[in-house]
Amino acid sequence: MTGLYVDREQTRAKHFILEHYLQELAFKVLQGGLNELAYIDGFSGPWKSRAADHSDTSFMIAIRVLKDVQKRIMELRGQRKIIRCFFVEEDAAAYAKLAAAVAPHHHPEGGFIIETRQGRFQDFVPDALHFNGRAFPLIFIDPTGWTGYPFEVIRPLLKRRPSEVLINFMFDHINRFAASDDPPTVASLGEILGGANWRDTLDPNLPRGIAVEQLFRDVLRREGGYDAVLSTCIDRSLQDRPHFFIVYGTRHAEGVRTFRNVEYKALSEHEKLRQDAKNRKQTERSGMADLFGGPTVPDVKSLDTIIAELRGFASNWIVEVLRANGSYQFEPLALAVMQTFMLRETDVKDVCVALAQKGVITDTWKPERKRKPSKHHVIALAGPIQP
Ligand SMILES: C[S@@+](CC[C@H](N)C(=O)[O-])C[C@H]1O[C@@H](n2cnc3c(N)ncnc32)[C@H](O)[C@@H]1O
Repeated sequence: MTGLYVDREQTRAKHFILEHYLQELAFKVLQGGLNELAYIDGFSGPWKSRAADHSDTSFMIAIRVLKDVQKRIMELRGQRKIIRCFFVEEDAAAYAKLAAAVAPHHHPEGGFIIETRQGRFQDFVPDALHFNGRAFPLIFIDPTGWTGYPFEVIRPLLKRRPSEVLINFMFDHINRFAASDDPPTVASLGEILGGANWRDTLDPNLPRGIAVEQLFRDVLRREGGYDAVLSTCIDRSLQDRPHFFIVYGTRHAEGVRTFRNVEYKALSEHEKLRQDAKNRKQTERSGMADLFGGPTVPDVKSLDTIIAELRGFASNWIVEVLRANGSYQFEPLALAVMQTFMLRETDVKDVCVALAQKGVITDTWKPERKRKPSKHHVIALAGPIQP
């Protein structure tokens, strides 16, 4: 599978998140009482696909995952769940490949329903909503730039309840153009950044690219009425700088927890694949392969180092929040931490345990003979509030 992604490791990271998040979501939604799940892919491709069966495309990954979930729920519970897939592709040649590849999987009698459209995603919003019907949709927006999904037009889809969204925010590309004074460029960026005057609303304390990505999440949260919008930064394979961000919008606490877990696994794999790519490149450049497995190019900062740093920031942040607001139950506190830092719930638990060991907070879980806090435990400062 990963051989298909050599020299495009960032695509593998994107597909990893899509595959694993969609699988988790489908099981949760369909085993949690709902009967129908939809996957709406607005920019389906195929795009730079290498596999003859298109198994390295978002649409085939979604079909494989959803067929498997449907089959397993049938085996486990004897329930026939309905899956709906809606694929849009503008390019005629790519559309022909898409339509041919997905047609064999369209089985309405088996509850697996696929529709495709050729054209611009934004022109099929009413169709997508109509096709979706009562299903819980995951909307996947994966453009090549920043155009083609103006919030003004796709808002009804984002606002649909329930629903969730994954958007590939093309950071590198957008960051380059965000500096432009060219009026059409500024105006078109305004379609996803909250209007023509978006430049006035950037946080002046942040580097431009980071401020633009933050603004994008704020605008998406507002447009979709999401409770949380998180993002995962995917670095370029060979350079230590962001390529794109996978931005995720949800109205569910469980979504935040699940996304952070999937993100960690995706970034762990991406770190390894990037290291392999760098080693390959160095071997090519030096013109000789090392017998002991090739040269190792040290990465700038490992994922574990980043997580350790973030845990430190989160620890200070928790203390500040407790000082300012008093005690919290673990559940809302953990959610707030996960929305602020790229950390999983397990990290937040460890941070709380470490704070309790230092005597900063009370180990309210100890009387229950638990090693770590869970949902209902109160997190409160141990001593009097320090100035
Ligand atoms: C980055 S590729 C998608 C890759 C695919 N989601 C995957 O992960 O395998 C973007 C695709 O969107 C198509 N496209 C570009 N503009 C579009 C639009 N406005 N509406 C629908 N498709 C569009 C392009 O032809 C291209 O195939």
